[in-house]
Amino acid sequence: MTLHTSSTLVVPEVSAIPRHVAIIMDGNGRWASKRLMPRVAGHSEGLGAVKKIVEECRRIGVEYLTVFAFSSENWRRPPEEVGFLMKLFLKSLKGEVSRLAENDISLRLIGDLSRFDSAIQDMVRFSEEKTAGCKSLTFTIAANYGGRWDILQAMRRCLDANPGLISEQVTEELLQPYLSMAYAPEPDLFIRTGGEQRVSNFLLWQLAYTELYFTDVLWPDFDEAQLHKAFKWFGQRERRFGRTSAQLASLAMSDAV
Ligand code: FPP
Repeated sequence: MTLHTSSTLVVPEVSAIPRHVAIIMDGNGRWASKRLMPRVAGHSEGLGAVKKIVEECRRIGVEYLTVFAFSSENWRRPPEEVGFLMKLFLKSLKGEVSRLAENDISLRLIGDLSRFDSAIQDMVRFSEEKTAGCKSLTFTIAANYGGRWDILQAMRRCLDANPGLISEQVTEELLQPYLSMAYAPEPDLFIRTGGEQRVSNFLLWQLAYTELYFTDVLWPDFDEAQLHKAFKWFGQRERRFGRTSAQLASLAMSDAV
């Protein structure tokens, strides 16, 4: 596995199109309530938006797309809604895996899957294996995922793999391979729909230098045009990674000569 550089150790390469986009798809319930529909109807509609965004990301050359489908805190929702989301998840895996493979999209799941029933766990394994060789886009679904859980599970696995480790030996490089997104560069762009401006325990470690974009648009209404609006905003950001604007300007001058 290629190890990706850490934004806190080395200044990463930047590009006009983000290599990695991470999305919190918020607002499904409100989308449905506004139409006097049950909340779960918003999740079904939200799945349609997921398909559009996956296809558009692949088309324009985004390499990694990661979506937050179910957080470790979403178990607190009413049992009927949790049950519906699980069924939708299983149905969408079954229905979409062949299309993902045909479109050269690899599917990865991150999160603690042990709490899901065995039909979902089996389907996840099958889908990951079936799409493992696909290269155009890596589409990651975070399910029963939490950023704090991720850091803790990484630390635990790192300690198990390195018995007798002493505190001075614990470095970013040592821990990084155990984080659940070690296979991907850190996200360049984070998008949250639905009007809230928080990170909600998503990729806490990986978002260190990610540009954060918030929009009031509810997830089922987030389409290709909305994605391009976010990319346009991203293209105007000055990604300093701790440096000053003057340093960036002089780097640009030296690149030009
Ligand atoms: C947040 O909206 C959305 C979720 C917790 C679930 C997201 C699931 C999908 C978009 C469909 C399935 C996706 C995949 C990848 C299989 P909310 O319910 O919190 O909305 P609200 O803030 O308006 O209540």
